Amino acid sequence: MQLTKFIYFLIEENKIEVQWRSYQIQEQNELNSEMLCSSNSFLNLNPIVSSSINKPLIFRSLRIIKFTVSAKMDQNDAAAPPFTFLTRKPYTPPSWASHLNPLPSHAFSLGHLPTPIHKWNLPNLPNNTEVWLKRDDISGMQLSGNKVRKLEFLMADAVAQGADCIITIGGIQSNHCRATAVAAKYLNLDCYLILRTSKILVDEDPGLTGNLLVERLVGAHIELISKEEYAKVGSVTLTDILKEKLLKEGRRPYVIPVGGSNSLGTWGYIEAIREIEQQLQTVHNQLKFDDIVVACGSGGTIAGLSLGSWLGTLKAKVHAFSVCDDPDYFYDFTQGLLDGLNAGVSSRDIVNVQNAKGLGYAITTSEELKFVKEIAAATGVVLDPVYSGKAAYGMLKDMAENPKKWEGRKILFIHTGGLLGLFDKVDQMAPLVTNWRRMDVHESVPREDGIGKMF
Ligand SMILES: Cc1ncc(COP(=O)(O)O)c(C=O)c1O
Repeated sequence: MQLTKFIYFLIEENKIEVQWRSYQIQEQNELNSEMLCSSNSFLNLNPIVSSSINKPLIFRSLRIIKFTVSAKMDQNDAAAPPFTFLTRKPYTPPSWASHLNPLPSHAFSLGHLPTPIHKWNLPNLPNNTEVWLKRDDISGMQLSGNKVRKLEFLMADAVAQGADCIITIGGIQSNHCRATAVAAKYLNLDCYLILRTSKILVDEDPGLTGNLLVERLVGAHIELISKEEYAKVGSVTLTDILKEKLLKEGRRPYVIPVGGSNSLGTWGYIEAIREIEQQLQTVHNQLKFDDIVVACGSGGTIAGLSLGSWLGTLKAKVHAFSVCDDPDYFYDFTQGLLDGLNAGVSSRDIVNVQNAKGLGYAITTSEELKFVKEIAAATGVVLDPVYSGKAAYGMLKDMAENPKKWEGRKILFIHTGGLLGLFDKVDQMAPLVTNWRRMDVHESVPREDGIGKMF
């Protein structure tokens, strides 16, 4: 394979940084500023196999030398080899996480990664505060959001164990259950979902709203349980009961816990930190995040983010906005995940959990929904009302109440997805979106006889 590589020297304040990247370029004049300044496919300096240096080009502050390199592309190359999606590949952790134990041996390529990072121009920020958005809502797998990253590791383990079906559990609009159902089908595995609903609905068809439509389209087996039974029996026993039943039927089930949040799933967001580090390497003005803000539902995302940020080069403070349980619950739960990796750190030292649950899990006030609507109208970014909507609402409320705490800081907000959950709130949303009218076509505009052509 013939690749064209550019090596460039970024000369800034007497510091010379050398990086290179590859493009498949037909013509020399395809090189333009956009490719050099905005693409995020930088590579760390790898050994050059063979090269012929062409004459240097000077481009703004960058000195570019064109290389024509004939090399076999390796796994670390930015131009990924074709058809790696849905493959199971050996996993090598970031060097700063290689002492964690156990280490996953493999991961599936399920996500559309890296997800973009862009500036988020939120209204009413404290002085000099910048908010950037990491778009894990567009991580692929039918809008699977943050769950994709955990499933890359969990599904690899399921397949290694010879599973022929997956069991998982969650609320009736669980994004995790839907993400699992989709990923399982991509990998030709059956999927069994235990979904928690209200006592009055537990004996009825659950309908096709939001996540349910996708789960049912991909053929997941749905078992309903009432909230009361769920609380009494517990998620672990419920999945055990279903597992026993399937084993007796000769199946080989693999159980994924609520939210995919166990120590193995935690690797998804340890890996996301490596991804963010690599993305930051591509920015010329030394962008550095002081804080990471994210919604917290079952705890796996914050465990991975906070551990990765603490161990790696990012060192950003992680702020978790809890949408269900209280902060103490999450400090303890996250501690269990960290201990499961022998991380040797206290959760309280690496993450700050704040309560953003409001009226309760998946219950949204009209003020919170109005916020989701206003942010969408102001920035084009649609938040889900159950997770990122509550986290962003909590963050901006905290900023309004404690502006000094956030002034001048650069914040990376992780949009964890969950957009299908929005469809569960359409009735509540309706009064907020009244922007329509019948089009006025003046009588003087001539009408054709008959029905006319539609397209
Ligand atoms: C859309 C969305 N965002 C955030 C979260 C929270 O992530 P975690 O369960 O890892 O705390 C979840 C799941 O609970 C989710 O579905």
